[in-house]
Amino acid sequence: MRTRKLGYTDLHLTTMGLGTWAIGGGEWQWGWGPQDDAESIAALHRGLELGINWIDTAAAYGLGRAEEVVGKVIADHQDEVIVATKCGLCWDEGCTDVYGRLTGQSVRTECEDSLRRLGVDVIDLYQVHWPHDEEHLEEGWGVIADLIKEGKIRYAGVSNFTVEQIKRVQAIHPVASLQPPYSMLERGVEEELLGYCAANDIGVVVYSPMQTGMLTGKYTKELIDSLPDNDWRKESSPHFQEPGLSANMALVDKLRPIAERNGKTVAQLAIAWVLRRPEVTAAIVGSRRPSQIEGTAPAGDWELTPEDIADIDALLAERERALS
Ligand SMILES: NC(=O)c1ccc[n+]([C@@H]2O[C@H](COP(=O)([O-])OP(=O)(O)OC[C@H]3O[C@@H](n4cnc5c(N)ncnc54)[C@H](OP(=O)(O)O)[C@@H]3O)[C@@H](O)[C@H]2O)c1
Repeated sequence: MRTRKLGYTDLHLTTMGLGTWAIGGGEWQWGWGPQDDAESIAALHRGLELGINWIDTAAAYGLGRAEEVVGKVIADHQDEVIVATKCGLCWDEGCTDVYGRLTGQSVRTECEDSLRRLGVDVIDLYQVHWPHDEEHLEEGWGVIADLIKEGKIRYAGVSNFTVEQIKRVQAIHPVASLQPPYSMLERGVEEELLGYCAANDIGVVVYSPMQTGMLTGKYTKELIDSLPDNDWRKESSPHFQEPGLSANMALVDKLRPIAERNGKTVAQLAIAWVLRRPEVTAAIVGSRRPSQIEGTAPAGDWELTPEDIADIDALLAERERALS
């Protein structure tokens, strides 16, 4: 799979990274229903076999569970796989909810815990997951800069930050990457962040390019109703509820012929669409089993034509009009 350099770093990421939110399972606030660790491990191995060279995880995913799964997968490939994880979302013992905390002591403890769960001596990319604890942004980032000097982290990135928040931490230590949401259904990053990151040599690794499964083309109202109650999408994702849901399903139906004339799927089209932007280093793509990553991996090398892009733009404008 082709690679792109991440901002100012020497990391060359494949255009698709392996996402691990869903493989944290269902037993926490933002869970995705039951998940079998053996299937998660098989999915990540298959992704690596297909040529993907990096994994995105977070301490919060399954409250440590996803990092432990990643640790098992990379045990034999540590030199070949780039690992990105995140801090800043914490939980208390016996609780399944997470909250933002970026105090220096907390970031340091979180880093040690992630190193242990991942079974590595150094984390390639350490990202602040959310800027919820705004008061401690500088303090937490300062400790991340210290952890780089101590050799526990290679590069530091941020996620879900605004330009103003990036500027605040950039003054302390260079930001290597931003991890924002980006899909046909969530285009806010195009307004300011992509341009700012390109101008400042900050890599961009976008998340949920298939809008947590909505843009795979498989979801119907019946399938959403049958999701388990501990799958957060059922009640909490606006893209899985009306009025967005009907508009999203109509969009998917119209995307299908564009995918098919290229011999591809709607899921692959959704990923290739975010990769059309040169400011985007890579798309992070979630898979819960090997067949899912087999189904999406061809998107990593697919370049959309100007005609495909124009046709999709027209469909997205039509969807906006229908919703307004
Ligand atoms: N920094 C942040 O705040 C943040 C937020 C969100 C995500 N992320 C990262 O970005 C990654 C990717 O985003 P995401 O997982 O939210 O969403 P996504 O990649 O848009 O969608 C992934 C989901 O789509 C379904 N799927 C995947 N391949 C499929 C296929 N071939 N056919 C049919 N369905 C398929 C699976 O769920 P079902 O089978 O259950 O439908 C899978 O879990 C995450 O795993 C995480 O690493 C970060």
